[in-house]
Amino acid sequence: MTHEAPDSESTTQSPSRSGVFDQATDRRVERFTESISFDRRLYDQDIRGSVAHAQMLAQVGVLTAAECQQITAGLEQIRAELDAGQLPLRIELEDIHMHIEQALIDRLGDVGRKLHTGRSRNDQVATDLRLWVRDALDHTDRLLADLQRAFVGRCQQDRDVILPAYTHLQRAQPVLAAHYWLAYCEKLERDRGRLADCRKRANVCSLGAAALAGTSIPIDRHDVAQRLGFDSVAANSLDVSSDRDFVLEAAFALSVIAVHLGGWAEEWILWSTAEFSFLKLPHAFCTGSSIMPQKINPDVLELIRGKTARVVGDLQTLLVLVKGLPLAYNRDLQEDKTPLFDAFDTVQACLSLACPLVEGAELRREVIRQRLDRGYLDATTLMEYLIRQGMPQRTAHHLVGQLVGTAMERDVPLSELSLEDFQQFHPDLDERVYHVLGVENAVAAFVSYGSTAPTEVSRQVQLWRTRLGL
Ligand code: ARG
Repeated sequence: MTHEAPDSESTTQSPSRSGVFDQATDRRVERFTESISFDRRLYDQDIRGSVAHAQMLAQVGVLTAAECQQITAGLEQIRAELDAGQLPLRIELEDIHMHIEQALIDRLGDVGRKLHTGRSRNDQVATDLRLWVRDALDHTDRLLADLQRAFVGRCQQDRDVILPAYTHLQRAQPVLAAHYWLAYCEKLERDRGRLADCRKRANVCSLGAAALAGTSIPIDRHDVAQRLGFDSVAANSLDVSSDRDFVLEAAFALSVIAVHLGGWAEEWILWSTAEFSFLKLPHAFCTGSSIMPQKINPDVLELIRGKTARVVGDLQTLLVLVKGLPLAYNRDLQEDKTPLFDAFDTVQACLSLACPLVEGAELRREVIRQRLDRGYLDATTLMEYLIRQGMPQRTAHHLVGQLVGTAMERDVPLSELSLEDFQQFHPDLDERVYHVLGVENAVAAFVSYGSTAPTEVSRQVQLWRTRLGL
């Protein structure tokens, strides 16, 4: 392998500058325009892309087999150096693409100078980013599946627990705890669907679009796409060199995940208060106070809720970034990386902590149970009982409202009203009315698909267990 001394020009000046320049780049410009400080994260993808590109160039006869072999071996060495943090990063080389290419040229001289044939950094950046997003989507999907497993795991453990469910944060109707856990599984499943959908549009090969119009070098874009595992090749070079839809879609899908996690976190923060006392959080995931010795604070949940802001902010940044950009590549697009990386990093970190929290939290069954007769959770079931007896819904709704009013005045649950009380409002009522009162009876009365009916919930738990390989 030929090793060439770095030529003086390339150590001080970006190799992207041709002979047309009559001044060296101002140092301030180098500092302002560099992206190596953040796009170095793309090094693995950049090397994969370059290896595939070189192999394709050899396939079509633009490189010899020996040149291709030298280039791929050189790139693997550079990868090892980058893995070990040994490749010095220099802002005059602007970005990761130029660092890797320059390192190759330093090793191979003219053979290294051939790698950039038939491509531009515009299609190269887009390709690297697509490969990165594809990996990141897959990783996020695995974390979502882990969290779903954590929720499904709770169904068995909490199978005999009934929870009050809320609308407007006011007690509404009773549900099985498993129904509650599975509600989050459904949300996360839609999140996974959005990631999978985004993956389809991310998994398209941009390489070979070159600067914006394609190339007169006889490249084989389908060959590269296949080597990189892309599903298809972008059909319009002008479109794909500016296309960041997949970045926006990923940031949107991540924002929805963050919003889901933020809502869950908020709920659990409330549930862990003395006022609710539904939940004991694992102490390993709580923090103390420097002044109040009794405090066990849910900081992790608060930060999961708080970090939603970053992710939604990242989406906003990206949308505004691409707004108004003309075709095709514009340097603005360099700014897409930090919000994209941040959105993935943040959501992945939140998911990684949500999992042990869900597994480790304990429902305070006694506290929950003792208060289940508050809030008239069975009122709607009583109304539906009357409807099943033939009463029009509006009439039954009014009547149960009156019964609840009476019970409230006495500060008792509906089940503690006497038969005479019931008959005073509706003479046809008999003692069977008690069969729908109380949360156990109310839960047992449900029958509809997707409801908290115990048979429905068991069926759903089973479906989820199968789906998640549990
Ligand atoms: N560092 C740039 C980026 O990440 C490279 C793009 C190069 N293209 C160009 N026309 N300057 O977007």
